[in-house]
Amino acid sequence: MEVIKKIAEMKEISLCLKREGKSIGLVPTMGYLHEGHLSLIKTARRENDIIIMSNFVNPLQFGPKEDFATYPRDPDRDNKLAESAGVDYVFGPTSEEMYPQGYCTYIEVNGPMVEKMCGKSRPGHFKGVTTVVLKLFLITQPDRAYFGQKDAQQAIIVRKMVTDLNVPVKIITCPIVREEDGLALSSRNTYLSSEERIQALALPRALSAGRDMILKGETDPLKVKQHITSILASSPGIRLDYVEVVNGDDLSDLSAIKGKVLLAAAVYVGKTRLIDNIDLEV
Ligand code: PAF
Repeated sequence: MEVIKKIAEMKEISLCLKREGKSIGLVPTMGYLHEGHLSLIKTARRENDIIIMSNFVNPLQFGPKEDFATYPRDPDRDNKLAESAGVDYVFGPTSEEMYPQGYCTYIEVNGPMVEKMCGKSRPGHFKGVTTVVLKLFLITQPDRAYFGQKDAQQAIIVRKMVTDLNVPVKIITCPIVREEDGLALSSRNTYLSSEERIQALALPRALSAGRDMILKGETDPLKVKQHITSILASSPGIRLDYVEVVNGDDLSDLSAIKGKVLLAAAVYVGKTRLIDNIDLEV
């Protein structure tokens, strides 16, 4: 496995691989790898000749009061894990390499799918995501790119960008990986104290209760949303950010529960913001 820090070198390697007829799978990450990332790499490994994993904590997608400075970083450990999972190239540029002095070009998906949920709580976040993702696509020339379902809104917005801009990359969304007790894996879980770690379980528990309601026949999205909200609101240590019950394809509002449905929530446990979701077809 090679670690590449320069855009020009990564681009040269990718273009060369494409000329040789090799298929490239990109796994974009911000590092601090966990089993969720490794499952993306394993899926990509099965479907492509070459795997590139990007490891870049993208300053553009963090708000001024968010955790960019403290976001966990351990590139040496990441490189070992990536290599044993079958990554061929790690692309790990610096912020200056990605956004040099005078950088001023941004990619922004607009409309309802970015105005709700994380887009509402984190203004500018998805503009940062789509900008870096398109740059990564242009640098690494992937045939396929792999995103986790935990960031369901991100995957939907990236897919929309790719469709609208005719970007020749297939977006593949891989299932959420959870701890045995149900907590979705996230690099931010490392921020949780042992007490907060237990309190955080209210998030998957509330979403599962919403899903169970639907499986028992509830068709009113508002009732499901209220049920999830009431569980979270009465859970110790949890501060609610949002709960949504929306269309799982485009995050549009539902008048009734039917087809692809996404139950999504974000909460603060102490200072840590956690997101989770359950998608189902009714
Ligand atoms: O999901 C993430 O880790 C990031 O948002 C991504 C896609 C790597 C872009 O920085």
